[in-house]
Amino acid sequence: MLPLAELHMHIEGSMEAELVVALARRNGVDLPTYDAAELKRRYRFDDLQSFLDIYYANLAVLRTEEDFYDLGRAYLTRATSAGVRRAEMFFDLQTHTNNGIAAATVFCGLTAAIADARASTGISADLILCFLRDLGGDAATATLRSALPFRDQFIGVGLDSAELGYPPSLFTDAFRLAGAEGLHRVAHAGEEGGPDYVREALDLLGVDRVDHGNRAMEDADLVARLRDEQVPLTVCPLSNLALKTAPPRLGDHPLRQMLSEGLLVSINSDDPAYFGGYIDDNFSAITAALALTPVELGVLAENSFTSSFLPEAEKEAMRLEVRRAVSD
Ligand code: ADE
Ligand code: ZN
Repeated sequence: MLPLAELHMHIEGSMEAELVVALARRNGVDLPTYDAAELKRRYRFDDLQSFLDIYYANLAVLRTEEDFYDLGRAYLTRATSAGVRRAEMFFDLQTHTNNGIAAATVFCGLTAAIADARASTGISADLILCFLRDLGGDAATATLRSALPFRDQFIGVGLDSAELGYPPSLFTDAFRLAGAEGLHRVAHAGEEGGPDYVREALDLLGVDRVDHGNRAMEDADLVARLRDEQVPLTVCPLSNLALKTAPPRLGDHPLRQMLSEGLLVSINSDDPAYFGGYIDDNFSAITAALALTPVELGVLAENSFTSSFLPEAEKEAMRLEVRRAVSD
């Protein structure tokens, strides 16, 4: 099994329909259906917003520290079985605080899950606090200030939720503050927004990684820059299919071109409970569709560690493990 880092996964997007139902029952929260199979049948999306509507509605079931713990443990267990050795997990703090949950409840549940998973399997994991772009720039800055008492419990900030109409330029203050706090910075860009969103994320937010970045491929100058600067792109093939942010045939996915352009791309699951699978499922699907070779799979696995926020020596050790696994 190839060792992998997973860098683009929303922990809330790993809440399987069965867990949604179990937590709804545990907490007495209303759901449109308590039949997990029926809930899952509703997971058919036309675009990002149609997914987000269902995703946010389901998050009302998360109420207690134990809920966040169970959510985190379930993902980390599943990810370990897929070869994930390092996970940098997004979480949507604003959704939970807007649902009346204390930030401490979210942090304590998730960080306890990370500590226990590490103790039992050795997986390394950390949290990245994502700002919800549709709640605006001032809310993002206020959220970061309110999270600073928990500064040692997350390693970076990200930017997610509805992209169109909410360009990175709205979030310069929040990202400046994050930089001053020594936090890593990433942002979703080029998922539905155009190449300009990717440029703004780089130039105005100072991001270390771009999440998705697919639409950067429309702009040759930007592609050259991403290659020259080796900007990591965290690509999510099954997400792109489910949200129609890539052509309907996975064989036409931009990953092939990204690889041939020499971009620093990795494969990730985004919201595995909604888009048809975890990181291993994404690898299986894209490998079959693009006929990726063992060498290319090794490049993608090495890229995942290179793109991570692990210390340089740990990145090198993991790349060595990948090379050994490829040559075995
Ligand atoms: N939040 C959860 N998943 C997301 C995605 N794919 N894009 C933007 N925001 C998200
Ligand atoms: Zn995402």
